[in-house]
Amino acid sequence: MNRLLLLFFLFMAIAAVPAIQKAIFKPEKRDIFWPSSWPAPVYNFKKNPPTKEGFELGRALFYDPILSRDSSISCSSCHLSFTGFAHNDHALSHGIEGRIGKRNAPALMNLIWSPVFHWDGGVLHLEQQAINPISQADEMGSSLPEVLKKLNRRPEYRKMFFRAFGDSMIRTDNFLKGLAQFTASLISCRSRYDLYTAGDSNARFSEQEKNGLLLFRKNCSSCHPEPLFTNYTFQNNLIKPDSAAPDSGRFLITGRKEDIFKFKVPALRNIALTYPYMHDGRFRNLKQVLSHYEAIGQAEKGRWSENSPYGDKEKKDILAFLLTLTDSSFLRNKTFHHPSFQK
Ligand code: HEC
Ligand code: HEC
Repeated sequence: MNRLLLLFFLFMAIAAVPAIQKAIFKPEKRDIFWPSSWPAPVYNFKKNPPTKEGFELGRALFYDPILSRDSSISCSSCHLSFTGFAHNDHALSHGIEGRIGKRNAPALMNLIWSPVFHWDGGVLHLEQQAINPISQADEMGSSLPEVLKKLNRRPEYRKMFFRAFGDSMIRTDNFLKGLAQFTASLISCRSRYDLYTAGDSNARFSEQEKNGLLLFRKNCSSCHPEPLFTNYTFQNNLIKPDSAAPDSGRFLITGRKEDIFKFKVPALRNIALTYPYMHDGRFRNLKQVLSHYEAIGQAEKGRWSENSPYGDKEKKDILAFLLTLTDSSFLRNKTFHHPSFQK
């Protein structure tokens, strides 16, 4: 009889384990918003539905230097939340042991619309992208197996992975999905430009900004079209290769001659904060960028742009317009900042 009772309890205990796990694994759905007039995103949320637990996990990973070999560099070392996740003030990226990379760290926002990543389009999926900085010698200098091993030794991460994905064993797919829960959420769509063009009566444009928008639409939209301010193609905007061994951009991926010195057209949202500019960070401010476009407009009359080159007033107007793309609700979104800002 006693033995039967014991067997009964044993059976109940085993049966209860999955029940308890199920009770804890109940991720809370998280809504992500963007304007209904925007195109459908490229990123497939069905394969990684946004959840609160997933987002918090992704944010913890993004801000944790454990992803680098010597635990000194996190994703946020090069992508700072307060500057649109660009590396403000650094022309080229800085990785472990003070190593200098080859390119300027781009701003991170509206990534779910991007069909390609990196200045040369060498990465085709947002989730896969993270493997790159982790394993680059002059960025985080580690490897995926090494990172997974370190994370699996940390009980708090095992718990977070369980809460987000129902599996406390940390594996490649859930690790990459976890990071993407955060990076896919970085949506900037509430700048004054957005409110103004949506007809919000509280959002006003000065005459200068209105004229800047018109000039922008004439001269810049072929590559930087609204609302995402990039057409995600690779173009040569005629900045001069500036070293003996210049970065040949898209050519490195395709090997096609016509792709030499072509780079991914960057999105221009929050552009006032993401300096310095271009793939090598050569321009310190937007005035220099506009002078560049003015110079090639003159040199390449008709070929570069349909329109006549513009002068000082026009440059000032375009600049005023570009400043309306600053989205303080995105930049000041507390939930995107370092976990220590959450409390
Ligand atoms: C040492 C600096 C550095 C670190 C650390 C770093 N990045 Fe980057 N990131 C860059 C640079 C530089 C590029 C551009 C790379 C290129 O074009 O070759 C980039 C590109 C990207 C892109 C592509 C953006 C686009 O629009 O094409 C994403 C997404 C990204 N990083 C996310 C991350 C994540 C997630 C991490 C952490 C796992 C991370 N980065 C760590 C410097 C860094
Ligand atoms: C033919 C396509 C094309 C046109 C037209 C064009 N751009 Fe660009 N733009 C690019 C490309 C490509 C880059 C990146 C080049 C690089 O890094 O080498 C770029 C970079 C920029 C950057 C730097 C962004 C960053 O994050 O570093 C700004 C600002 C910019 N463009 C503004 C403008 C403005 C303003 C106009 C109109 C006067 C304009 N662009 C017209 C293709 C274009």
